[in-house]
Amino acid sequence: MNIVILAAGMGKRMQSALPKVLHPLAGKPLLSHVIDTARALAPSSLCVVYGHGGDAVPALLKSDDLAFARQEPQLGTGHAVMQAHAHLHDDMPTLVLYGDVPLTLGASLQRLIESAGRNKLAILTVTLSDPTGYGRIVREDGRIVRIVEQKDATPAELTITEVNTGILVAPTAKLKHWLSTLSNDNAQGEYYLTDIVARAVADGVEVVATQPAAIWETLGVNSKVQLAELERIYQRSLADRLLEQGVTLADPARIDIRGSLVCGRDVSIDVGCVFEGAVTLADGVSIGANCVIRNARIAAGAAIKPFCHIEDATVGAAAQVGPYARLRPGTELADHVHIGNFVEVKNSIVGAGSKANHLAYVGDTTVGARVNIGAGTITCNYDGVNKFRTIIEDDVFIGSDTQLVAPVTVGAGATLGAGTTLTKDAPAGKLTVSRARQITIDGWQRPVKQTSPKK
Ligand code: UD1
Ligand code: MG
Repeated sequence: MNIVILAAGMGKRMQSALPKVLHPLAGKPLLSHVIDTARALAPSSLCVVYGHGGDAVPALLKSDDLAFARQEPQLGTGHAVMQAHAHLHDDMPTLVLYGDVPLTLGASLQRLIESAGRNKLAILTVTLSDPTGYGRIVREDGRIVRIVEQKDATPAELTITEVNTGILVAPTAKLKHWLSTLSNDNAQGEYYLTDIVARAVADGVEVVATQPAAIWETLGVNSKVQLAELERIYQRSLADRLLEQGVTLADPARIDIRGSLVCGRDVSIDVGCVFEGAVTLADGVSIGANCVIRNARIAAGAAIKPFCHIEDATVGAAAQVGPYARLRPGTELADHVHIGNFVEVKNSIVGAGSKANHLAYVGDTTVGARVNIGAGTITCNYDGVNKFRTIIEDDVFIGSDTQLVAPVTVGAGATLGAGTTLTKDAPAGKLTVSRARQITIDGWQRPVKQTSPKK
């Protein structure tokens, strides 16, 4: 099969400099959704017809299995398909998709393709209570005879509620012939792809229609309003899939997945969470409200408390993170680690059972097992030019408000007194402390307010 994706239209109503088909839905360009659906059908050739927005579309999406055909100027959907001519093999059917219709399911396309077989023209249609704007499917004695566009339709034709979604499958050699005979003698002065239907009927080619499982599969994006509506539909469908798999969602209307979220058994997710990239939540993980989690693996039984931000990180089994914790790229927390409120961890490995429960920065650090990092501890990993590592070995206890000026190593079992500024390695098993000794001054008086002389 050949697949052509029409994506040259300009999308004026998006009110944006970005070509319409590059606007993201669930974090991915509209056109990429369509390309991914098309790829799943394993086509022999896949061609995107682009135009408006110049080379931004091929520049962003270029890939070995994709051909691009430029349509300039944009003279209608029939004219658009003509631009893909060289990429359409005559001996297999051609499926036409729209780059701004992102949610069509592969299963619905598969049924359309099967109904077309090798020789029929098959159209994906839907019946709408309000068909305004769409091309109408004109039938005689139940058989499809042509499609008439809204602007060309008679009052009687405008009452037809079965409409053209734009998605169709055609026998390719005939399609090319029909396209070569199109005229733009119509209300919009465009070469209509839809005119091939009457051509097929005249050639004795059977025209059939199938319907998608849901109408939203065929909805297009022409404005930010429609983009937002489709985003909600898509997110709801992802949420429903998670519910069916047994994930507990506090509210399926308040979760956003921009990528892939893979969940084990007995996972629960509170409201307002955003998942981006590839995220895996193993058995028994709970995610508190308002977390943003991107490209992360959270192991079994871990609890992520509300308001955490996690990116390019792994969290070990039964670990506890947050509330208000930030795990930045390169963070690897082992099992049973506790990272508490206002703790930031970056590019660091934290060993099993270690804890940093309050207000700390752990950057470019290797932390052993069973380490306790006190409140206010900071690794000073950056001298303004270079970054250095801190090594904290097993069973270390770091008192509150300590600064570890990297590169520095704290030996196993060492204790650092509160307020230490560590600039040299701390030996294992000993107390190291760097602070001025506490003194008390007897007989000291608080200053008293001076009275200023009157002017
Ligand atoms: C088209 C159909 C109409 C159908 C409707 C479904 C035709 C003549 N009409 O109408 O029957 O009900 O879609 O939404 O086909 N495009 C190009 N180049 C062009 C024109 C369009 O690539 O010169 C692309 C657009 O980017 C878009 C798709 O084709 O992805 C449809 O174009 P649009 O202008 O939205 O079609 P309609 O006039 O709404
Ligand atoms: Mg149009």
